[in-house]
Amino acid sequence: MSDAEARVRAYHALSKHAPAAFAEGPGQLDWANQPAPFRRYGGAPRLPLWQRPLEESPAYDAVFAGPVGAPAPLNLASVSQLLYDSLALSAWKEAGGSRWALRVNPSSGNLHPTEAYLLMPPGALDEAALVAHYAADLHALEIRARLPDALGATLGASLPPGGCLLALTGIAWREAWKYGERAYRYCQHDLGHALAALAIAAAALGWQTRLLRQPAPDELDAALGLDSVAAGEDERVDCLLWLGPVQPGEFALPADFWTALAALEYLGTPNLLSPAHRDWPELQRVQHLCRAPRLGLRPDWRAPPAETIPANPGLPLRPLLHRRRSAQAMDPTTGIQAELLFAWLRRSMPANAPVPFAVTGEPARVDLLLFVHRVRGLEPGLYWLARSDGAPPTGLREDFARERVHAELPLYRLLAGEAAGLAEFLSCGQAIARDGCLSLAMLARFDEALADGAWRYPRLFWECGQIGQVLYLEAEAAGLSGTGIGCYFDDAVHELLGLADSRWQSLYHFTLGRAVWDARLTSLPAYAHLRLPPPA
Ligand SMILES: Cc1cc2nc3c(=O)[nH]c(=O)nc-3n(C[C@H](O)[C@H](O)[C@H](O)COP(=O)(O)O)c2cc1C
Repeated sequence: MSDAEARVRAYHALSKHAPAAFAEGPGQLDWANQPAPFRRYGGAPRLPLWQRPLEESPAYDAVFAGPVGAPAPLNLASVSQLLYDSLALSAWKEAGGSRWALRVNPSSGNLHPTEAYLLMPPGALDEAALVAHYAADLHALEIRARLPDALGATLGASLPPGGCLLALTGIAWREAWKYGERAYRYCQHDLGHALAALAIAAAALGWQTRLLRQPAPDELDAALGLDSVAAGEDERVDCLLWLGPVQPGEFALPADFWTALAALEYLGTPNLLSPAHRDWPELQRVQHLCRAPRLGLRPDWRAPPAETIPANPGLPLRPLLHRRRSAQAMDPTTGIQAELLFAWLRRSMPANAPVPFAVTGEPARVDLLLFVHRVRGLEPGLYWLARSDGAPPTGLREDFARERVHAELPLYRLLAGEAAGLAEFLSCGQAIARDGCLSLAMLARFDEALADGAWRYPRLFWECGQIGQVLYLEAEAAGLSGTGIGCYFDDAVHELLGLADSRWQSLYHFTLGRAVWDARLTSLPAYAHLRLPPPA
């Protein structure tokens, strides 16, 4: 075992929650130092983006099979739409004198560690090529650099026509403020949700979303001007994406392009997120360890063709993206039909949804352990969806039945019986896991991924976040709701399954059912606080 793998394993162990000992966190929340939820670059020129009517929408079912229709031209309208449908605000909530923003993409604790930066070729949004930060609260771009002509020309010549690059970054401090050492995991979950949100919004524009393996994220921090943030508020690139017309394989920009970018004078001063910070040394170590190296280009970016699953005929995509919400409480009496659950599971299979699952190019490594509570046509109990290779894992408890219950889906009954109380207990005692129609744990092939390199550790959480995003939308499409659950007792899940080693690790939980909304909360429209230019 490499030293890096051993250290990632040590982080994983120390960031586990157990009934008797939660992973080390701050204890009480330090409200005076609550991080600002929005990154802002003071003094950077702003480019307002548009909002377009949500009725102009492709069908919900269509986007999962691949980019829909002819690719939209790359311009202010399409970039506005992409960000509006993926990372924008979707509502404000108000209660007891406080007001907070919610977004199209969900986030653990609503803390939103993920930021987005665009690298635009010349002539798309401006005559010059641009590096721009997306300010979600303004639905605007903050221009951080206008590239000199020669550099812009290199970018224009290196990128396939009609597309751009987008980097997703993480500010771990935002999550660490509340969750301490475990926060690294949440940042990666959130990144997976954001990846899926972007891939879905891009597919609606006829665009492909693919992760670039070059350059390495380490080479990108300075190139994107992230080195001027305050100490304690490090912002690091997690991934760089191609967004645009379908390309057959990966391309690379010249290495000296990135060095030249790093030498630019960046516009704007990053805001201070908190007056003071607390260090979480293990989190910082694992973040450093798990950055991907410069990897070989992927020659084949195509995803095997998927058929559109017509589960929700006539349902438009965009309104649904904007009304997605996490349930804070679930109605304990609502049930669903088994056919609906099967439709959700079908959609979560990687082969059925290249959007969003083909984005990273990683093999599927996450299976689902279902706690079925109230699903008509499927008796309550524990089930396994062998999402990654079709067969239930070896090494599970011997008294598990492993009886296949569906002809098409690799879905196996492990144990019949009431599992609601168990699901609640395993999700840190959260009633949403008990009161949903079902809840689930996402179990990842941990040893296999780590043997490939420490950098694969965060990608397991990305896959979990991608699955979570699909489930959120599926629930919403059925008039129901989902909630991601980052708080769970890791090893108690493994003990339940009789897993004696680390081949499988539980990395995320989720629940689906009928939400009970809190009547004390008032909702306000996302951008009621702004006057935006009219749509074209
Ligand atoms: C990775 C992740 C973990 C989460 N964990 C929990 C949880 O343990 N309990 C809970 O009630 N909500 C959890 N949530 C839901 C968030 O609180 C919710 O996404 C956030 O408040 C924003 O609200 P929205 O999803 O309605 O936009 C989680 C969300 C994510 C993305």
